Amino acid sequence: MNHPFDYDALRRETSWDLARQELDCPAGSPVNIGRICIDRHVDAGRGDKTALIHEDHAGQLREFSFRDIKELSGGWAAFLREQGVVELDRVCLFLERGPELYISFIGILKLGAVVQPLFSAFGEEALFQRIDDSQAKVVITQRKHVGKVRKMRERVPSLETVIVIDHLPGKRPLREGEVAYEMMSSRVGDFVPQETADESPSVLHYTSGTTGKPKGALHVHSSLFAQYLTTKMVLDLKDDDIYWCTADPGWVTGTSYGIIGPWAMGITQVVLDAGFSSKRWYATMARHKITVWYTAPTAIRMLMKDGAALAREHDLSALRHMCSVGEPLNAEGVLWGREAFGLDFHDTFWQTETGAMMITNLPGMTVKPGSMGRPFPAVRAGVIDPVSGEELTDPNTVGMIAIRPPWPSIMRTYWNNTPTFYSKFLRGWYVCGDQASIDEDGYFWFCGRDDDVINTGGHLVGPFEIESALLEHEAVAESAAIGKPDELNMEVVKAFVALKPGFVGDDDLELSIMNFIRKKLSPLAMPQEIEFVDKLPKTRSGKIMRRLLKAQESGEEIGDTSGLEDD
Ligand code: WT7
Repeated sequence: MNHPFDYDALRRETSWDLARQELDCPAGSPVNIGRICIDRHVDAGRGDKTALIHEDHAGQLREFSFRDIKELSGGWAAFLREQGVVELDRVCLFLERGPELYISFIGILKLGAVVQPLFSAFGEEALFQRIDDSQAKVVITQRKHVGKVRKMRERVPSLETVIVIDHLPGKRPLREGEVAYEMMSSRVGDFVPQETADESPSVLHYTSGTTGKPKGALHVHSSLFAQYLTTKMVLDLKDDDIYWCTADPGWVTGTSYGIIGPWAMGITQVVLDAGFSSKRWYATMARHKITVWYTAPTAIRMLMKDGAALAREHDLSALRHMCSVGEPLNAEGVLWGREAFGLDFHDTFWQTETGAMMITNLPGMTVKPGSMGRPFPAVRAGVIDPVSGEELTDPNTVGMIAIRPPWPSIMRTYWNNTPTFYSKFLRGWYVCGDQASIDEDGYFWFCGRDDDVINTGGHLVGPFEIESALLEHEAVAESAAIGKPDELNMEVVKAFVALKPGFVGDDDLELSIMNFIRKKLSPLAMPQEIEFVDKLPKTRSGKIMRRLLKAQESGEEIGDTSGLEDD
């Protein structure tokens, strides 16, 4: 029987300890994400259930049961141990979305090592920054990407071994320090997972800030309790669901909700390892009878462009629940979702640092199109004054989104960067760095980020990282990178560049700089537009005033610049 939705009752009844109880992990007992997500189901007699349905770009399917993944991840763990990997060592995944990515992720955690996912489209410099910072010992990659690893390798002495998953014997030989590994021929069914504790490090995800290098948000094994409970209550997964998370595990959505949450519940998930097209997405949803779908506003806007009729041409009758994350989900997106699928998109707000959803639209809750929803029932969230840290309790007042620690999946530190970690807290709140207001009904409305980080298609890109890379181009004297509003991607990167003497800012140079950034960093970081300028607006101490450029760009009244960004 359906009960009417009662948010306050849910808040009274929900605590993170529920997850501990349901997963049979009393306080003080070992908690290993790999064991709980996979081995546990096999030990309980559910080993034959399909864990992963992998569809490649050609439409070929490969299926893996929980037992398959137990044995194959055991193979990974045993092999990594042979390679000298021990507890707490960092192992990077630099892979496309093949089964190896998902299964080695589990294997690394079973071994008690720290898994560091890296987006496969990263270029050599983006890779270097993140591996140099984490001092990773091993990178697991594939033929297609090994060249980028080779290029940066001599700059990172910590990197001992590069594992190549699809090496063809007889073809281009491997180099010293590179080894081949063929996952499918290496099953180890009796690998005993490390008895990691609540606070044992598990996943290290890098994210971008306004200043400085990318920061590594370090998570721990007990983060699982938050991922499990939010998966259960927000994604609403049930035993016979076929779930599709469209995010790449290079980003936190793809690990918290594309691996850990759903598998902790023993759910069958689909991975589509192919580029985006609306038709392909609908065909995949129809083919696998997807029931629950977690995606992002940029994807929704791209689907919108092709019209609701296209969605209705496919049999999507199995679909019963849809959620969104990563950027503001405009009201039009929700309204269009109703038209195309007859369902509401349920927006969720969270961050790499929070590890799990914080503000959510729960199933059964009235969706207000354009709002991010209300705090997850075990979460205490508010908006605060950025200076005093006082909570702003008057409805519809804009403040900084803040969450009361602790919760199981909050990052435990930024790797190598404790001062920045502490700077994220104010008067006992964790401050997200986003602005919002809360209406009379307790719904959060997103207003914008409080820094210069660029959100392009739900992926954060740091302006500093782009500006540093731009400076390495022979023609660039100085530069500034900002987010420029974009219909599909919300923002795209725009760069302002002052040239060195002797260079001419023509189309060829623009293209050369764009390609330079695409290769060095990633396609996401590549400026879609470059404006050549004589000089850049700066504060007296020489800081580039990105906000001024941004305001100019969106045609805003600039007014008094003295208070904008001063020393
Ligand atoms: C930033 C975090 C964790 C999900 C993937 C992104 C923005 C996230 C929403 C939303 C408006 C959102 C915020 C946040 N963001 N969700 N529902 N509405 N903005 O993780 O890369 O760490 O980015 O994404 O600015 O701080 P991330």
